[in-house]
Amino acid sequence: MSEAEEAFIRSTLDRPIVLVGMMGSGKSFLGQLLAKKLACEFIDTDAVVESDAGMSITDIFELYGEERFRQAEKNAVAKALSGEVCVVATGGGALGIPETLALLKEKSWMIWLDVDSQTLWNRVRKNRSRPLLKTENPREQLKTLLEKRRPLYAQAHIHIQIEKEGPDTCLEGIINLLSKTIKTAKFCP
Ligand code: S3P
Repeated sequence: MSEAEEAFIRSTLDRPIVLVGMMGSGKSFLGQLLAKKLACEFIDTDAVVESDAGMSITDIFELYGEERFRQAEKNAVAKALSGEVCVVATGGGALGIPETLALLKEKSWMIWLDVDSQTLWNRVRKNRSRPLLKTENPREQLKTLLEKRRPLYAQAHIHIQIEKEGPDTCLEGIINLLSKTIKTAKFCP
C-alpha cells in the first residue's frame, strides 16, 4: 500500500512538503527519512539560518534577539519554498510570523507532527541548544508554548498525532495522509 502511495506522491508532487510542530516533535529526523523515500532534497531551516549567519541559533538569540532570528527564519522558509520540490523541517516557532504561516498555507503541503507535551519534554530536556527553554521552569515553558501554538499548527493541511509509534509507522502514516490529501486536492479542487 505504502509503496504505491510513495510512487503516486513522487509523480504528482508539485509543492514542497513542510513539517511543522514543536521542538522535539521529530521534524528533522522524520523529514530526512521522508526526503530519502521520496528521492528529493531535505532542507532544515534552522541549519540554513545558522549557516547563513555563521553562528548558532543560541548566539543569534543572545547577540541579536528573537525578532532578528524570526526574520532570518522567514527568509529561509521563503527560499526553501521557491526552489525544487523538497521536504522542509521548520523551527518550532516559525508559524508565529503571519507571513510565514500564509506562505506555507499557500505554497506547501504543511504537516503538523503533533506530539504530547510529556514526550516532547523527555526528548528535549537534556539538549541545552534551545534558547526559549533557558528559563527557570523549562518544562512549564514548553507546555505554555505548545498551548499557545496549537491553533497555529492546527492550520496545517495534514495533522498527524504521534504517540508511541516508531519512525517507520510514522512515515507510513505521513505518506498515506499526504497521498489522500493530494488526491482530494487534485480530483476535487
Ligand atoms: C524554536 C525551535 C527551534 C529553533 C529555535 C526556536 C521555537 O527549532 O528554531 O530554537 O521557537 O520553538 P526546533 O523546533 O527544530 O527545535
